[in-house]
Parts: sequence; structure tokens; C-alpha cells
Amino acid sequence: MTQDEMKKNAAWAALEYIPRDTVVGVGTGSTVNHFIDALASIKHEIKGAVSSSEQSTKRLQALGIEVFDLNSIDSFSVYVDGADEINRQKHMIKGGGAALTREKIVAAVADSFICIVDQSKQVDVLGTFPLPVEVIPMASSYVQRELTKLGGKPVLRAGVTTDNGNVILDVHQLAITDPLKLEQQINNIVGVVCNGIFAHRAADMVLVGSADGTQVIR
Ligand code: A5P
Repeated sequence: MTQDEMKKNAAWAALEYIPRDTVVGVGTGSTVNHFIDALASIKHEIKGAVSSSEQSTKRLQALGIEVFDLNSIDSFSVYVDGADEINRQKHMIKGGGAALTREKIVAAVADSFICIVDQSKQVDVLGTFPLPVEVIPMASSYVQRELTKLGGKPVLRAGVTTDNGNVILDVHQLAITDPLKLEQQINNIVGVVCNGIFAHRAADMVLVGSADGTQVIR
């Protein structure tokens, strides 16, 4: 079974946990693309979606799912998104697709976060995947120096501008043994909009696609 088939299994398994007649929070990425396809199969049973990126919005709308402005929604039950890495505490690295800031905002509003991944995303310690950090463009050099002081090797992601008009630094060589602390430390650097550690808002449930089926971790 390919990695993409495992992603697809996890994505379709999430349908079982989507409350009907409500708005659904939708993340970004190749795993979520499968989830959007799955969501389209129950589109007449949900009110619509709130989206974490222009990319997901386009796919949702193309499949006939209404996308609501997050500011028009006070609360909703479930946010579904992928991850680049996830540990046993359900802390994640996200942002491989550069959508981390909107993902963190939509996840913050949701009552619960269902993470859909293939088994290759499970790790003991976060940090092998370079940590994405969204930065205001004029602060890029300053933030790179500050991230270096924290022990990382930041690299500007070439040719990428986020949906918010910012740049992404990918921080290599971080062994993230205390994700809660590092998430806060990086947020405190002036010029950082958001970082890809999702520890303060961890996942509540993980659906892990593998060749043997989909494992549910609560
Ligand atoms: C998007 O910015 C990311 O947070 C994605 O959720 C993450 O990169 C997982 O992507 P895939 O589902 O494509 O592996």
C-alpha cells in the first residue's frame, strides 16, 4: 500500500466522527484533500465548512460545499487536519504546506481536533521535519538570528508567500523535547506570526492510516 493510500484510509475514517448538521473545520494538505473528497459524499448532511487555506477553500467549493467566514461562526465541534509529525502526546509539527497560521486559528475555535495521518508521521521526538515558522517579511533576517540562538538552522523557503502575505522559515536541526516551551519561546520573537508547533492546541484524536487499516488513538 502506498503512503497516499494510507492517507486516504485515515481521511475517509474521519467521516465517522463528523457530527451531522454542523459546520466542519477543514485543514490543508494532501491528506486533507482526501478528507474533502470524503466530506463531499455527505455534503447534504452538513451545513458547510470553515477552511484553513485558499487551496482547501477552492477544493471545497468545487465540490459544492459552502465555505463560511470564520468570523461568522461562534463555535463548531470538529476540526480535521493532517500533520507533518505527531508524537505520543499528540503534539504536532504542521506547516509543510505553509498554511500553519490559519490552521492554528481554525483549530483554536474548534471544540476538538482530529488529526489524520499515515503511519510515517508518528515520531518519538518532534523536529526531524524542519519546523515551519511564518514571519513578517521585513523581520526575516532578525528572526533567523533569534532562531539560531535557540539552536536551530533556519532556511528561507524559496518562492513561497503565505495566504497572509508572509514568508516561511524552515528551522532544521531542532530536537523538540519540550514542545510547549519552544512553541511559546518562538511566538515571543518579534516578527513571528506563528510557528508550526501545535502543542498548546494538540490533537484530541489521531487516525493513523497504515497497511493494516486505520488505528484510532484517543
Ligand atoms: C499544511 O500547512 C500542513 O500543516 C499539513 O497539514 C501537513 O503538511 C500535512 O500535509 P500532508 O497531508 O500533505 O502530508
